[in-house]
Amino acid sequence: MQTVSFNNMADGTPEEYQFLEELEKQYAAGLPARIEQSLEKLENSLSGYKVSRLVHSLQSATRAFRDKKPVEYVIAALIHDIGDELAPFTHSEMAASILRPFVADDLYQIVRTHGVFQVYYYGEQMGLDKNIRERYAHESWYQEAIEFCEKYDQNCFDPSYPHEPLEFFKPMIEEVFSREPKFGELAS
Ligand SMILES: [Fe+2]
Ligand SMILES: [Fe+2]
Repeated sequence: MQTVSFNNMADGTPEEYQFLEELEKQYAAGLPARIEQSLEKLENSLSGYKVSRLVHSLQSATRAFRDKKPVEYVIAALIHDIGDELAPFTHSEMAASILRPFVADDLYQIVRTHGVFQVYYYGEQMGLDKNIRERYAHESWYQEAIEFCEKYDQNCFDPSYPHEPLEFFKPMIEEVFSREPKFGELAS
């Protein structure tokens, strides 16, 4: 079978859906490579900072790695701004959604809300409530989310910080995104 025969999903046969499922699995196996390609594009995204978004991300992941954080945390740090290109108004949620099937829920929540926690560092200058993060104060992961922004995000705009190259993190990207996903589309 090269393609299915139906025009409307309701007309597909079990064999056709088995065929499509196999192709989806093969496509999913290419996820680590697509993550790497998206990270490379961050070299040319938001401007105005002293470092590119890619360098910011590499600094974030390097600092997490050097602090001996687990591999999934290092990868969360690496891709936390990967949504900048396609989700400029919801970039935290986009990165979190990519991670969600492969990491613990706490880490998913930390990435999902990092845009809110980050306001602590610039809110006053923008006339915003810097403490907006307190809306999550009752959450078990609240202190960890504060730590993420403090140590691995707001301080990662330093052109003189000696970060590791993207190549260094590729085996870790492969490891995390080749894990058996915890759930699929039906869980959301
Ligand atoms: Fe961000
Ligand atoms: Fe960031």
